[in-house]
Amino acid sequence: MDNKFDVCVLGGFGHVGLPLSIAFAGAGKRVCAFDIAKDKIESIKSGKMPFMEDGAEEKLQKVLESGMLTPSLSTDDISNSENLIIVIGTPTDSHLSPEFDSMMTFIDQYIKYFKDGQLIVLRSTVYPGTTEMLYKKLKEKGKNIEVAFCPERIIEGYALKELYELPQIVSGTTENAERRAKELFSCIAKEAIVVKPVEAEVAKLLTNAWRYIRFSVANQFFMICNDAGLDFYKIYNALTYNYPRAKDMPKAGFASGPCLFKDTVQLSAFNNYGFPLGNSAVLINEGLPFYIIKKLKEKHDLNKKRIGILGMAFKAGSDDKRDSLSYKLKTLLEFETNKIYCTDVYIKDPGFIGAQELVDRSDIIIVATPHKEYANLKIGSEKEVIDVWNFYGKGATV
Ligand SMILES: NC(=O)c1ccc[n+]([C@@H]2O[C@H](COP(=O)([O-])OP(=O)(O)OC[C@H]3O[C@@H](n4cnc5c(N)ncnc54)[C@H](O)[C@@H]3O)[C@@H](O)[C@H]2O)c1
Repeated sequence: MDNKFDVCVLGGFGHVGLPLSIAFAGAGKRVCAFDIAKDKIESIKSGKMPFMEDGAEEKLQKVLESGMLTPSLSTDDISNSENLIIVIGTPTDSHLSPEFDSMMTFIDQYIKYFKDGQLIVLRSTVYPGTTEMLYKKLKEKGKNIEVAFCPERIIEGYALKELYELPQIVSGTTENAERRAKELFSCIAKEAIVVKPVEAEVAKLLTNAWRYIRFSVANQFFMICNDAGLDFYKIYNALTYNYPRAKDMPKAGFASGPCLFKDTVQLSAFNNYGFPLGNSAVLINEGLPFYIIKKLKEKHDLNKKRIGILGMAFKAGSDDKRDSLSYKLKTLLEFETNKIYCTDVYIKDPGFIGAQELVDRSDIIIVATPHKEYANLKIGSEKEVIDVWNFYGKGATV
């Protein structure tokens, strides 16, 4: 097969797809980053990243200059590639069930561009069984296409560091798919771990559920201490100091974003919702904004207070607002007061004000996303600061 591209990344302008495309292109592959996001292509073509990603912009410019990366909206490029990597979003629906249809609808949309002999690598986090189902579906449609599942495990914002450092979990529906996928990723990942597709699919869900549950433990510990009138971080510091078995205990704080919640819910659905730990983690993490408001209402008539939310991204150092609990906090506060201010260093919104202005205008400041830029704000002692993260090191009592 004489293909124009070695790799076509479908969903190639996204948080996973674009860094991955850059990494493959930087490793010498001829890469097409294919997407439908018309609003992003010009910026990407001009060497500008559409979102924050450490060290990516310089690398993007390099691979554009070398001609190894082609951003594209053209479906013809899908047919012109030896390998297709699919990294579209895989959300849950409004009933918190995995959107079983979205991947298969996506396949139906593009199947006419798939060519015999291609390898399709699923890289989105998928419901267990999806890879085998896709392989069967392609066969039924008369397509002679190999299918693999190689999950993405990077932490958002540091993809172009971690892609080279993390072992790559590789799985294929046939030995040939497995071999081809392993060979493909060998140019960026230094190690491969080969398992069966369903094992790789479950591995990805377990990884994110594990992380989400750990955050929920810290959040529940925080609430237990706070309810008892104790300063959680005084206790946290005492128990983690020079004590190896507790040193990985996370701090309390908003745990959200586009992956952890939905992957925990997907794992729960996979076990017929028989995942009490995961279900509890959802209630605890998603309940933290409610808890903060409940505690504030015990002390104040919030209708008489001006409240500032410091940080709207889903995590510090990021411009990603997807599923951020700061927005949930804002919505809940709107039931209590109409004097709410929001700010974020990285998210542009005409409704937001500057961080210092927010501090100056507010009676109560809630540290929702502890961007490091907020470290030196001038906050008078008359202000009440709700700092579940203990970002300012003055305790976290609510
Ligand atoms: N964000 C992360 O840090 C991360 C980490 C590991 C795994 N994942 C998983 O990777 C997958 C993608 O996540 P993301 O954060 O990159 O999402 P994203 O929304 O940033 O990117 C998805 C991209 O797919 C494109 N797209 C959507 N429908 C399309 C279509 N029909 N044709 C072509 N392109 C289409 C979108 O325009 C977007 O650019 C999800 O399954 C997610 O769970 C994400």
